[in-house]
Amino acid sequence: MTTVPADPRLMGREVKRIVYSERQIADRVAELGRSIAETYPDGDLLALGLLKGSFMFTADLVRHIPRPLQVDFIVAGSYGNGTVSSGNVRLLYDPETNLEGKDVLLVEDIVDSGRTMQKLVELLMTRRPRSIQICALLHKNIAEHLEHPVKFVGFDAPNEFLVGYGLDHAENFRHVPYIASLA
Ligand code: PRP
Repeated sequence: MTTVPADPRLMGREVKRIVYSERQIADRVAELGRSIAETYPDGDLLALGLLKGSFMFTADLVRHIPRPLQVDFIVAGSYGNGTVSSGNVRLLYDPETNLEGKDVLLVEDIVDSGRTMQKLVELLMTRRPRSIQICALLHKNIAEHLEHPVKFVGFDAPNEFLVGYGLDHAENFRHVPYIASLA
């Protein structure tokens, strides 16, 4: 466990602990990139980042996948400003890229209840991709019987409210370069 240093980015908010440091994240993201490149030796690969939470992860991850690929984004919302899932998943931006025949890699920052991911996979399947797999930096492993399991997982995350590296609380802290647990 790392002691949390004073950080102006946290706006005076106390964090319980740093759960994953910048170094830990960078190392794991590089490993994930290598693993993804090995899994897709050929075919048209599309990294589809789920905004806003995955903006940083997607940007870092694709730089570690040494093969041709395309990048697009999808926007869905499932949480309000609180710390509890509302269970509603809204599609706010639809990718313009044609998914037909492509290997789609859905890039998520975190799988919490798993609702967002399950709903998105079902929706994207109707676009007739060659395959769809999920890459999540964090997986809380609290969702029961996920119909579409997560193929690439960065870290098995604790069931705490996490912020930083794209994850927010009321839209704040997304730019924090490490992942911390809110007190
Ligand atoms: C968060 C997070 C995941 C989703 C996970 O997104 O980024 O996409 O919730 O929750 P679930 O597994 O319970 O569905 P949010 O809706 O907060 O939007 P954001 O990415 O813009 O922060």
